[in-house]
Amino acid sequence: MTARTSLTVVLAAGEGTRMKSALPKVLHPVAGQPLLAHVLEAAPHGAGTALAVVVGPDHAAVEAEVRRLRPDAKTFVQQERLGTAHAVLAARRAIADGADDLLIAFGDTPLISAETFARMRAPLADGAALAVLGFRAADPTGYGRLLLDGEHLVAIREHADASPAERKVTLCNAGVMAFDGRKALQILDRIGNSNSKGEFYLVDAVSIVRDMGLEAVVIETSEDEVRGINTKAQLAEAEAVMQARLRKAALDAGVTLIAPETVFLAADTKFGRDVTIEPFVVIGPGVSIGDGTVIHSFSHIVQSSIGKKAQLGPYARLRPGNTLADNTKIGNFVEMKATTLEAGVKVNHLSYVGDAHVGAASNIGAGTITCNYDGFAKHKTTIGAGAFIGTNSSLVAPVKIGAGAYIGSGSVITKDVPDNAMAVERSPQTIREGGATRYRELKTGGMTKKSVE
Ligand code: UD1
Ligand code: CA
Repeated sequence: MTARTSLTVVLAAGEGTRMKSALPKVLHPVAGQPLLAHVLEAAPHGAGTALAVVVGPDHAAVEAEVRRLRPDAKTFVQQERLGTAHAVLAARRAIADGADDLLIAFGDTPLISAETFARMRAPLADGAALAVLGFRAADPTGYGRLLLDGEHLVAIREHADASPAERKVTLCNAGVMAFDGRKALQILDRIGNSNSKGEFYLVDAVSIVRDMGLEAVVIETSEDEVRGINTKAQLAEAEAVMQARLRKAALDAGVTLIAPETVFLAADTKFGRDVTIEPFVVIGPGVSIGDGTVIHSFSHIVQSSIGKKAQLGPYARLRPGNTLADNTKIGNFVEMKATTLEAGVKVNHLSYVGDAHVGAASNIGAGTITCNYDGFAKHKTTIGAGAFIGTNSSLVAPVKIGAGAYIGSGSVITKDVPDNAMAVERSPQTIREGGATRYRELKTGGMTKKSVE
């Protein structure tokens, strides 16, 4: 396109009361990212583009999220929620900078694409004062209706203010608008609040543009792209659309999904070549999976980087902060957190490995637990390369197991074990002849197990 400059203003100050949640609406996740993150990602980036986000007065969490996602963005607080046009004008100072194109988007419309933003800008370059994104709604209830006179867009009527005939219109306002940036303030300042809700409606910009003798046009897109999220049901619908997109993108990129409809991905999931994901796998944010790795069924993975030719699951759980090198193997009912496994490490069965570093080719036996939490703080377990941890061992952190060390099964390890040493630590087994009979007598006599011992 041309070298026109742009300002995108994203409205995110609404309370989202219909979500019935303490969390601000735009922070609800779709595909592992807040609604707002998807919009900020699609908004124009780079040279000649500016970004402003309008947040509510009690929404420090939204501001923090904006800073994390797009440090280049300015945030503006809308002190009172007096409607969408009022919200846009909270960013007056940014708008007054006079970018060529002023784009307005809603923070609750997460499926919008970068291509659509680009399409909205084209009519402005051709002299239109306003472009409105429209879509044909299967059920238009609640949306603003686009009223046309022949080819020309003449007004947008909010559902609450629409006549029965207008309510039959299915061409709806998606919420995204593109203004000629130099005329925008003139238009926005003329918007009033004489409607059933007494709010300043951005949609009134259309009739004002017409009254000024300027051109307003509609750019159409699919309903799926512009679903506005007001309720939890709509949040779930958007998730379904997003998951379908992500699965298709993964398949197109060569990932094998045996039953794609059962696999859940995050918007930022990264795959190498020849990755296989078996049915019923959930992948949360921040996951990368290397070439040739297989994720078996019922595994749940977040914020972890998995190397090449690794095997995970079935029933593996990776919590945040793991790095698994190439050829590692994580078996069933293994939970890991903040752990690095160097190449070739095996943790095949029923283990918890947290806050740990495990050297190459070590074998962690079934039922091994890193006891990383003493009730006050988390402590680290370090295991050297080529170590063997016998089954059902408890490694009480902080603790270091040397390279090539051998831990006998059933050990409770509380002291560091040097390289190539062997440690076996078990309570002596006590046998009392007839003890079981005595125990049962005491128990039926009303004694508790504790008082028996
Ligand atoms: C809005 C449109 C409607 C359109 C629909 C598409 C208006 C008046 N209505 O209705 O035509 O069909 O979106 O999804 O524009 N917001 C603020 N401050 C406010 C009010 C809203 O920041 O004072 C923000 C909200 O956070 C939200 C967006 O503006 O991101 C839209 O507000 P919402 O109340 O969801 O509008 P809808 O009723 O969905
Ligand atoms: Ca909405």
